[in-house]
Amino acid sequence: MKINTALKLALKKTPRTPDEFDKLPEHVAIIMDGNGRWARKHKLSVSKGHRQGTETLREIIRHTDDLGIKALSLYAFSTENWKRSEEEVAALMQLILDFFASEIDELDAKNVRILILGDKSGLPEKQRETLKEAERRTEKNTGLRLNIAVNYGGRAELVKAAREIATLAVNGSLPVDAITEETISEHLYTRGQPDVDLLIRTSGEQRLSNFLLYQNAYAEFVFPEILWPDFTVHDYDLALDAYAHRERRFGRRIGS
Ligand code: FPP
Repeated sequence: MKINTALKLALKKTPRTPDEFDKLPEHVAIIMDGNGRWARKHKLSVSKGHRQGTETLREIIRHTDDLGIKALSLYAFSTENWKRSEEEVAALMQLILDFFASEIDELDAKNVRILILGDKSGLPEKQRETLKEAERRTEKNTGLRLNIAVNYGGRAELVKAAREIATLAVNGSLPVDAITEETISEHLYTRGQPDVDLLIRTSGEQRLSNFLLYQNAYAEFVFPEILWPDFTVHDYDLALDAYAHRERRFGRRIGS
């Protein structure tokens, strides 16, 4: 792409179309960080920050779908988030219910397939049933794979995979020598999906925080210094554009 075209695109604030990118990732993962700081900045309760963050979430899902990206993984609630105040946990749990109540019809109509990453059995019954129903209702859809991590931890996911694989090995249905990297991938929540190509964490923090540890092995990382409720579709386009211009080496030496 010529420099002046790149500059023109950087200044263009309307959502981009797929042909305006040199390449697009197949799988984007997002750590939606900064809701609490946004709330403090606006002298609002942290719950209001998360509610505003949900508005961002809607726009980002829509644009991901419009761009034809295959998979989007969002970190909504980690296994560590239970340590937050009772009030904040309750607000997040309510937002999950509200989100599915208001979005499921549109997502299903757009052929989006929802998958929950994480241990649903550790959730309150209402949330567990709502999430299961969203998965069940969209399981035959063939469009965007929308993965929402709720009560998720990357290490716990790997422990779960190790236990499943060990069980197969012990009962004789899987020879130990036949265990490969693919075997592990196939025992993760994201089985059948491509690895993460691009990880975005908003708010300026530069950590993985136990998110998709195995799937992020070769991901490119982009850390916009923007709080999640302020993150726009234009900021997303800039992160996607940064990805398009990264040289991915997967351990190889380029040019030899
Ligand atoms: C991190 O910001 C964000 C979270 C822990 C929750 C993210 C959840 C949402 C955006 C909405 C709920 C999700 C769905 C699917 C409806 P933080 O609170 O840690 O921010 P801080 O670091 O500024 O305090």
